Amino acid sequence: MPSQRGSVATYPRGLSPHMITEPSLPSLSSLPSLMGDPSADGRFGEFGGRYVPETLMPACIELEAAFREAWADPAFISEYRRILRDYGGRPTPVTECFRLSEHLGVRVLLKREDLAHTGSHKINNVIGQALLARRMGKTRIIAETGAGQHGVATATACALFGLECVVYMGEVDVHRQALNVFRMKLLGATVRPVHSGSKTLKDAVNDAMREWLASVRSTYYLLGSVMGPHPYPWMVREFQRIIGDEAYEQSRLILDGADPDYVIACVGGGSNAAGIFSGFVDTNAKLVGVEPAGGAAVGRGIPGVVHGMKSYLLQDEFGQVQEAHSISAGLDYPGVGPEHAHLSATGRATYVPASDDEVLDALQLLARMEGIIPALEPAHAIAYLVRAASSGEIAKGSTVLINMSGRGDKDAEQVMQRLAMCRTQPCEPVCEGCPSR
Ligand SMILES: Cc1ncc(COP(=O)(O)O)c(C=O)c1O
Repeated sequence: MPSQRGSVATYPRGLSPHMITEPSLPSLSSLPSLMGDPSADGRFGEFGGRYVPETLMPACIELEAAFREAWADPAFISEYRRILRDYGGRPTPVTECFRLSEHLGVRVLLKREDLAHTGSHKINNVIGQALLARRMGKTRIIAETGAGQHGVATATACALFGLECVVYMGEVDVHRQALNVFRMKLLGATVRPVHSGSKTLKDAVNDAMREWLASVRSTYYLLGSVMGPHPYPWMVREFQRIIGDEAYEQSRLILDGADPDYVIACVGGGSNAAGIFSGFVDTNAKLVGVEPAGGAAVGRGIPGVVHGMKSYLLQDEFGQVQEAHSISAGLDYPGVGPEHAHLSATGRATYVPASDDEVLDALQLLARMEGIIPALEPAHAIAYLVRAASSGEIAKGSTVLINMSGRGDKDAEQVMQRLAMCRTQPCEPVCEGCPSR
């Protein structure tokens, strides 16, 4: 276990000039953060890197240079923060869940990214990258999406900045996230369904990367998570760091100057988790990422290369990428961002699975106890909390901060069908992981 530093005086936050609440910035330290810059070739430990065809190499290098310059420019940072405040609804609050806490015997706080504009944390990264694209003189944006939240956020930013927007989305996700497809279209984006492979997020990334390769001069690829070739995993984490920076201050106010014992987030590619972890990685808080049981890249994956990065990856004995399965489109991905692979390998964060069934139960529990309907993705974090608090893995009286990465509207129809079909009568044909069988 790497050393952890908990006191305010030594809390090293030198890599983050992006706090919303500047006056209360903790004093800086010369110690580097455990989630600092990657190496010059874009690695976190052995993971990350830039495994792209030669044609994309100049684009990645140009992007890295543009991001470094912008992120050191106070005018860029101030515009990014102004838009997130006046348009994006930041800072999002931290809500204490009194009834759920009493029910579970642990003190539960939620960081409310579900209250950000467009309904999830995705807007933080999208505003940052759209500003960067504009600064680089690009007028056309492509993106991939799973749950549709990144697609909606991208379509939103493109409408705001007057940019052309094309979103790739697997055919399976087009159906299960139909509401978000409609929202993207309303916002003026073109949605391109992807019919190859498992027709989910992995295949949408494949097609977006293929198009980027073909149109790299005119087009900016606005990647939605902490994955892909360098600089994306680092850049997206920096644009999501605002979640952790805010939550660090907010939870200290609620917990009388203490840090939470646990910080828990769901992990698909890993951007909401990276965002909240970055605020607590240098404290004593235990960091827990929750993966879908059917797509546990950290839990069950082995190192491999996909989508331009080296990371943990679900693969068969021949090294072929295996299909993931999750009830939640946003977590249905066989890989994970390389920084999570590194945080796991070093023991600083742990990664645990949650099953579809546990997730459906957790979603209903939070809705009934707190009046908050979570998206299926963060319901994974709640599901782990319920299991761990019930089994004693998380001790009674612990304080737990959960990243509520998005709201449940987009999943209402899917959940309605699943509950109606599978809980009250056997479904036909049998759905994957059917709870009634
Ligand atoms: C609400 C929500 N949470 C989490 C995720 C997973 O993405 P990430 O792991 O990058 O946070 C998604 C992806 O679409 C999402 O919509």
